[in-house]
Amino acid sequence: MKPLIKELDFFNIEADVFVVGVPEHPENVEGWDEFVASFSTRIPVWLKSGDIKTDFKKIVNVPSMKESGYKRILFVGLGAKKSLNENRLREVFAAVGKELASMRVTSAAIWTAPFKNEKLVCEDVVFTSAEGLTLGAYKFEGYHTDSNIRTVELETVTFLSSANNDELKAAFEVGEVNAYSVNEARNLVNMPPNILTATEMANYAQELATKHDFEIEILGKKEMEELGMGAILAVNKGSVEEPKLIVMKYSGTDEWKDVVGLVGKGITYDTGGYSLKPKDGMVGMKGDMGGAAAVLGAMNIIGELRPAKNVVAVIASTDNMVSGEAFKPDDVITSLSGKTIEVLNTDAEGRLVLADAVTYALQCGADYLVDVATLTGGVIVALGMDKTGALTNNEEFFEEFMQAAVETGEFVWRLPLTENDKKRLRKSDVADLNNSPGRDGHAIFGGGFVGEFVGDTPWIHLDIAGTSDATAAHDLGPKGATGVMVRTLATMIERMAETDI
Ligand code: BES
Ligand code: MN
Ligand code: ZN
Repeated sequence: MKPLIKELDFFNIEADVFVVGVPEHPENVEGWDEFVASFSTRIPVWLKSGDIKTDFKKIVNVPSMKESGYKRILFVGLGAKKSLNENRLREVFAAVGKELASMRVTSAAIWTAPFKNEKLVCEDVVFTSAEGLTLGAYKFEGYHTDSNIRTVELETVTFLSSANNDELKAAFEVGEVNAYSVNEARNLVNMPPNILTATEMANYAQELATKHDFEIEILGKKEMEELGMGAILAVNKGSVEEPKLIVMKYSGTDEWKDVVGLVGKGITYDTGGYSLKPKDGMVGMKGDMGGAAAVLGAMNIIGELRPAKNVVAVIASTDNMVSGEAFKPDDVITSLSGKTIEVLNTDAEGRLVLADAVTYALQCGADYLVDVATLTGGVIVALGMDKTGALTNNEEFFEEFMQAAVETGEFVWRLPLTENDKKRLRKSDVADLNNSPGRDGHAIFGGGFVGEFVGDTPWIHLDIAGTSDATAAHDLGPKGATGVMVRTLATMIERMAETDI
């Protein structure tokens, strides 16, 4: 999308659609009277009759009565002006983006003034609109053979504002990069497992690395065997697809220090293995690489915005299948760290591949670790489908992360990890750890298991099993993959670069 900035002139708007925000008491918006005079003096009557609504996100789509300029107006309700913030604006613009996509238009004009309040400046409106419009318009193309309809996308957005051009354009670009990267992650998660194999994910990462000039290393089965990555290899044993450990390095400073490790679970399909999932629980498990997608999406933002921070991304990818060679409950495996693991449940495979990935990230010099994974059904039971569960071993790092999550509007809730939980993870007659201490509070055991491999390194675990895939359309997009944590991870890195922690 191309942003244009123009001085406000209601008689000279060239766009398919003119977007007008309508807060409660719109007459208080600077310029409202001029707008009314230019469009129709009946606007106050329509507001009274409810033909134009001020309800939050309520859209009224009307044709223009003039022959030149814009063809339609979208009135979008904003609710109480004082309750507007960036997160609410993002939602408003996502609703507008969805509407514009369904109208199949290529240009829109946005008058910034109605969207502002004491806390929000023009840049915030431009930033959140770039994010919201792009997120809201998202649709997974899929593989239908009968679709010959050309997709129409918004090409130009004109902002009617007198604020500084360059700053607004920069804000727009950041917002668009963020949302585009989320949509890329959504595509990966929505892709079917026969197409998005570990090898394909590695190919995608390779392209990303080339585009952004990241150092990249892709370990296959042979390299994993040489290094002794017994945990990911065990999960891969039942598969005909080769496992891949994708390692990307972004250097934002001269020296390779203060490195943040982003580690993603990339299970391209989770049948459960011999601890087989029931048939209804298996459908949808193509999305078990949501953590990997979040890391790839965040790396795309980082590659574009190039913050002054060093990042190593490690993605452990394989499917979890059954065959005569597959790993079994009762197996004992040796992880890359040297720690031995008693397998009690082959469906607790995510923590196994993450164990080796986290160890490898540490070997690459990670000083901070965040792992992201669709790890447990337990987190859905605990927090529902709209909250990401978190564990941490470091208050300060978690604080920094949470500030980013608040900024992006992605809801994260921390779960406890106690000494007793750790004791149960370490209870095994035959090995150092077991991979499934029980079903009670098992979101904690899933993440806590990964924590057994991080040592004292500040670490955050994010369980996105509930938030990665939406069962219905939501505030920022359609049913299906959400691309959750892409923006938060990247924002955390950007803020760490600024504050130098
Ligand atoms: N990939 C699943 C978790 C999951 C469940 C993701 C629902 C998305 C939606 C994970 O590998 C898994 O199977 N976890 C088990 C753990 C159990 C065996 C301890 C679970 O949640 O039941
Ligand atoms: Mn599983
Ligand atoms: Zn899984």
